Amino acid sequence: MNKTLINSRNFLSIFCILASALLLNNSMAAEGGPCKDYGECDNFKYSLNDIESLQRGASTYINYCYGCHSLQYSRWGRVATDLQIPEDIFFENLVFDKTIKPGDLMTGSMPAEESAKWFGVAPPDLTLVSRYKGDDWIYSYLRAYYEDASKQYGVNNLVYPGTAMPNVLMALQGNQRLICKDIPVIAQNGGEKRDELGNPVTKEKCGFLEVEEGTGQLNKEEFDSLIYDLTNFLVYVGEPSKATRERIGWYVVFYFLIFTALSSLLYREYHKDYNH
Ligand code: HEC
Repeated sequence: MNKTLINSRNFLSIFCILASALLLNNSMAAEGGPCKDYGECDNFKYSLNDIESLQRGASTYINYCYGCHSLQYSRWGRVATDLQIPEDIFFENLVFDKTIKPGDLMTGSMPAEESAKWFGVAPPDLTLVSRYKGDDWIYSYLRAYYEDASKQYGVNNLVYPGTAMPNVLMALQGNQRLICKDIPVIAQNGGEKRDELGNPVTKEKCGFLEVEEGTGQLNKEEFDSLIYDLTNFLVYVGEPSKATRERIGWYVVFYFLIFTALSSLLYREYHKDYNH
């Protein structure tokens, strides 16, 4: 006879539902927007506990992006605190307008109507961009500019064809171009196809990105890592308490496990009375 409504099996199923909801939510959040001509977006894995990466990202953002893109839902002081930068150092090095106070929102320095005139589109606020575009998308977008003389700024972008944003990091990355390569043709048996003389048969394929050597201040690894830090910072800005939320999430799961075990023991203890 078993009349208890909340028995250990119920507990277990509630726990499973919660756990799978957590996993599902996570896998959905990781999915970025489509990367158009770029193909699959590059995979981006944030690391919000890497404070140094976030600090470098913030510095790049303020120096190269903040002139056009506000972060209007963040406050200067909160960013300084979360990124563990002492306020005086932060304000001295990263806040160029000396009238700004720690409690002020990062509303940007460019009037929207003016910029809309300059670029055709007003540069959007980027506080939540990692939430609606996805971090994979941003990480790919900022590395997918290429030379295209037919465009207003002489560049186009594989991830966002026809983007109104100039390649503001070109001096660092160098001049990236779309190139064609001879790719070995794969035969039906899965190996490389060869002609009668035994030479590999190749076919020209286009659409590869390559930086013209010696045109950028950074090499490919350094540039990728700069964009990594920048994207990481945008993930942080999109949800400043994400790291804390995820840490607490594990405590909650842990708590559920212990609690389930204890209540199951308690259930067994109570159940003994019914059997006698
Ligand atoms: C000179 C002004 C300017 C600067 C500087 C600039 N951007 Fe932009 N950005 C724009 C404009 C304009 C758009 C809108 C493009 C469009 O929709 O065609 C844009 C769009 C974007 C988008 C896409 C947002 C969306 O909702 O579609 C991202 C992401 C972005 N910028 C990131 C950056 C980052 C990161 C930096 C710093 C490295 C930066 N931008 C620097 C002008 C700028």
